[in-house]
Amino acid sequence: MPDKYTAFAPFYDALSGEYPVYRAGRVRGIGALTPQPGEQVLDLGCGTGLNFPLLQDRVGPLGTIVGIDRSARMLEQARRRAIKAGWDNVILIQADALLLDPAAVRATIQGQGGSGTSDAALATYSLSLMPEWRKAWANLRELLRDDARVAVVDMQEPVGWARLLTPLARAACALGGADIAAHPWQAVEEDCTGLIRDSARAGHLQIRAGTLRGALS
Ligand SMILES: C[S@@+](CC[C@H](N)C(=O)[O-])C[C@H]1O[C@@H](n2cnc3c(N)ncnc32)[C@H](O)[C@@H]1O
Repeated sequence: MPDKYTAFAPFYDALSGEYPVYRAGRVRGIGALTPQPGEQVLDLGCGTGLNFPLLQDRVGPLGTIVGIDRSARMLEQARRRAIKAGWDNVILIQADALLLDPAAVRATIQGQGGSGTSDAALATYSLSLMPEWRKAWANLRELLRDDARVAVVDMQEPVGWARLLTPLARAACALGGADIAAHPWQAVEEDCTGLIRDSARAGHLQIRAGTLRGALS
């Protein structure tokens, strides 16, 4: 049976609550990641490529965006976005972040004119969909420079007065297949220096960014 993103792909941008809620997280996450002109940025679970315009503004035509997603239909939307905008610096790879072979993915990226290791990476609203997100994080690290910058943007229950909205936040996460209690930004807190902590939408959106401490032991 196809996963919900396969069926939902053509409608994702319109129905995902982008402007009222989720865009704020990607804007802040990419702001904290600070991609530089000419860099290669990997977008894990890139979906339809909603991060791409913001990333393009940062890396420019000499930079590269590598989008990885397990859903061919979501990648099809991402490819359409790239073609429509005239970007020829986007590499899209269909792979499951939990199962991918990092060496094979590095070779695929190089085969398409990119670099085997990316300078920076982000995962927006994707790791919380992966039950073993630490495995996806470990695989991601194998695709990055040892001192790459990383950002994770994901969801938790709202705090303060907005706790009243908890049922809504839970329903939105359940609809998208996300585990609202996963808190995958912990990986950035554990593995990075120069940590940036931010949040938006009454704490529902959590943003973490930093620089990886170095090679995996
Ligand atoms: C909620 S969407 C977020 C998409 C995009 N990052 C954004 O910010 O709009 C989650 C995406 O993660 C992808 N995904 C879920 N599990 C995955 C996995 N194990 N490996 C790769 N991609 C995965 C889905 O196909 C979907 O495109």
